[in-house]
Amino acid sequence: MRSAFRQVVRSLAVFAFPLIALSAPTARGQKEPPPEHSAAHSTPFLVEFRNAAPGVAYVGSKACQECHGDINQSFMKTDMSRAMSLPSKLKELPGLDHPATVKHPKANRYYQVYRRGADFFQSEYELDADGKEVFRDEQKISYIMGSGANGFTCLVRRGDYLFEAPLSYYSRTKEWNLSPGYESTDLSFSRPIEGDCIFCHSGRPQPAEERGGKFKSPPFLELSIGCEICHGPGALHVKERRRAAPLRGNIDRSIVNPSKLPGWLADNICMYCHQGLDARALMPGKGYADFRPGTPLADTLAIFVLPIRRGEPPGDPLLQHFVPKTLSQCYVKSGGRLLCITCHDPHQQPTAREVPAYYRNKCLTCHTEKSCTLPLRARLAKTPPNDCAGCHMAKQSVQQISHSSLTDHRIVARAGEPLPEIAYHMTTPEFPDLVYIDAIPQAAPAPIPPLTVFRAYSQLVQLNSEYAAGFDSALDSLAKAGSDDPAVLTVMGLKLMSADVPRAQATAAEYFARALAAGSPIRRISNCLRRFRCSLARRRTPSPPSSAACKPILTRPGSTVCSRRCTLLSTRMTTHLRR
Ligand code: HEC
Ligand code: HEC
Ligand code: HEC
Ligand code: HEC
Ligand code: HEC
Ligand code: HEC
Ligand code: HEC
Repeated sequence: MRSAFRQVVRSLAVFAFPLIALSAPTARGQKEPPPEHSAAHSTPFLVEFRNAAPGVAYVGSKACQECHGDINQSFMKTDMSRAMSLPSKLKELPGLDHPATVKHPKANRYYQVYRRGADFFQSEYELDADGKEVFRDEQKISYIMGSGANGFTCLVRRGDYLFEAPLSYYSRTKEWNLSPGYESTDLSFSRPIEGDCIFCHSGRPQPAEERGGKFKSPPFLELSIGCEICHGPGALHVKERRRAAPLRGNIDRSIVNPSKLPGWLADNICMYCHQGLDARALMPGKGYADFRPGTPLADTLAIFVLPIRRGEPPGDPLLQHFVPKTLSQCYVKSGGRLLCITCHDPHQQPTAREVPAYYRNKCLTCHTEKSCTLPLRARLAKTPPNDCAGCHMAKQSVQQISHSSLTDHRIVARAGEPLPEIAYHMTTPEFPDLVYIDAIPQAAPAPIPPLTVFRAYSQLVQLNSEYAAGFDSALDSLAKAGSDDPAVLTVMGLKLMSADVPRAQATAAEYFARALAAGSPIRRISNCLRRFRCSLARRRTPSPPSSAACKPILTRPGSTVCSRRCTLLSTRMTTHLRR
């Protein structure tokens, strides 16, 4: 019994789990249990900013220019401010008057990107044996995601949906090539742009749901990352400053200034986008848009990484800036004073030439030249001279992406220095297999709501089957508690369906009915069900259906790709730095 059960869990892990992520009902307005932990909301802060309260309106970055023109000007030169742009950006690249063509390495498929008149397009086509086109699908490029620091990808708008296009631009090699993930599967123009991805990369996106790629019109209220991302909604401040309302005290509480927050709350703002990796799970009833600078990120989102194990290499460096930082002696021995904004002024991006001196000045806010035991003479002999960060913060290549490197934010005296002991003690007794990195620092940590635990495990189990047991117990306890979360209900249905017991099948049907009633879109369920049935059949029958028959329908707008959608993938896509 036990082993049959495990097999179900394992098969779910492979084939059905993506559904959980796909149908997580997190768009606001949908029915949701009330937040299960309210402790977070009563966390005392040193400074409460009035614009962090719900209901304060966003006004857009343009409104700030009027009085903060200089900051605006300098911010517009950063990569962050250019995270999303319109296709006119492609005019920076020469040669698009003639198509750039890429052939799929494994399939008879060709992709092109080119300019026609004022517009830019990508297309996909196939050739028959005589070299004649069998079909061609052409889509106009609507948005560009990525400043181009390492590369960018193109988005197309089809009806109410945004999809990624098959070709991306890679800055290091200065060439167009398949978008990350497309080398193994032909995803055509049907990889939806989902909640997590778009909230990290744009200003104020308007996804209709967290999952599925459907957007309201217009898809963006502000296209790229702007002032209010870090300062919170601006209506209150703009109103008060316009009428020059007197300030009470020396802090203007009408707008968040991250440097006046407790350090961990300031870091929380950056972690919203700069700490990804193993699992990012929304809190019950929350969507990505609910996060307000100045409030704990944990009210909206829990971020988990797998524990570091002795003797094993540390995880993927992509999108990891926070955890390595906390493993630096500079952070530990300064009592956590080393913040992202100790070294980075988000309004200012130093040029490559300015970098060494820029960051040296930041080191020297805590250190002196004498802190370094390597003699100054030896440091000055290097090029660039006395580059503290250059020697103590290694550039690391990202696996599978050879020409690219990111900066290791664990500051060490010498390369190869072992991790500090705390690295191996980051879990809690409640979750010995998870590190909850945005937990609110307090004596008695608030418990993680069961639905969030379930969402986290549903992502983790895709990375590592060791998490199947945790996933399973999270699922069971939610089902027992009568959860009406559509993802929980759907997975319960799938689990029972595979039990091969007539009564279980009937109960499975009930779960599906409830899942649909709770808002799980039937199209997605049926798509995944089909795939799940296929996969079971493939394992059980002597003449299984072909794997093509198990493929979900990919091409209709809105039909969700029911393949491995894992955080890792979206994170890996991230830097798009493949070779
Ligand atoms: C009508 C003029 C005006 C507009 C518009 C305006 N500000 Fe300000 N802002 C000020 C002035 C004046 C100060 C300095 C006095 C103070 O601290 O309030 C200031 C201060 C600030 C501070 C520092 C607050 C502190 O206490 O450290 C931040 C952050 C800020 N503004 C952000 C913004 C953002 C973001 C916007 C756009 C949403 C914006 N401002 C729009 C006039 C304006
Ligand atoms: C947790 C937030 C987060 C998610 C989710 C995420 N990204 Fe990123 N992405 C980033 C950050 C931050 C960077 C900058 C690289 C860095 O510093 O780690 C980046 C870099 C990129 C770049 C390169 C930009 C450049 O100028 O070089 C592209 C392209 C990109 N991401 C696309 C995507 C796509 C497509 C998705 C969704 C499928 C996605 N990302 C998901 C945060 C995220
Ligand atoms: C990625 C986060 C981020 C974005 C985006 C951002 N800021 Fe800031 N801002 C900060 C941080 C952090 C500080 C505190 C800097 C410090 O004092 O070290 C700050 C401080 C400020 C201050 C007060 C201190 C000063 O330098 O005068 C103003 C005013 C301000 N920002 C305006 C803006 C405006 C206007 C924009 C948009 C053009 C903007 N910010 C975009 C993070 C951000
Ligand atoms: C809304 C998501 C988001 C938030 C919040 C955010 N970032 Fe970023 N940041 C990005 C993305 C995306 C990029 C990569 C942009 C690109 O190249 O396309 C980036 C790039 C950067 C870079 C490298 C390029 C540059 O513009 O200097 C630094 C440094 C950085 N961020 C620091 C910070 C710090 C510090 C904070 C917190 C105060 C912060 N970011 C908050 C999304 C975010
Ligand atoms: C917020 C203050 C702060 C900042 C900023 C800071 N450090 Fe440190 N750093 C410390 C403290 C505190 C220690 C521990 C000193 C000790 O043990 O005596 C430390 C230790 C170190 C060590 C020894 C690490 C080890 O593993 O033995 C190095 C190397 C170092 N810092 C380099 C840097 C560099 C380079 C920068 C700038 C890129 C920097 N630090 C910025 C506070 C800081
Ligand atoms: C001790 C100083 C220091 C601190 C603290 C720090 N950074 Fe950095 N960061 C750097 C340096 C140095 C670089 C490399 C700059 C370069 O080479 O252009 C860098 C680069 C980056 C980049 C560009 C991509 C890369 O990895 O090279 C991002 C994004 C970034 N930091 C985000 C963050 C975030 C988010 C935090 C807080 C979790 C943070 N940093 C804390 C010093 C720091
Ligand atoms: C050319 C590379 C290089 C440069 C540049 C450099 N360091 Fe170092 N630093 C080292 C090496 C190597 C050591 C270890 C020396 C040893 O074995 O004692 C070290 C040691 C340190 C330590 C640890 C000292 C201890 O007590 O163990 C600190 C702190 C430090 N450096 C800070 C800095 C700061 C701050 C700067 C910039 C002002 C800087 N370093 C510039 C290579 C460099």
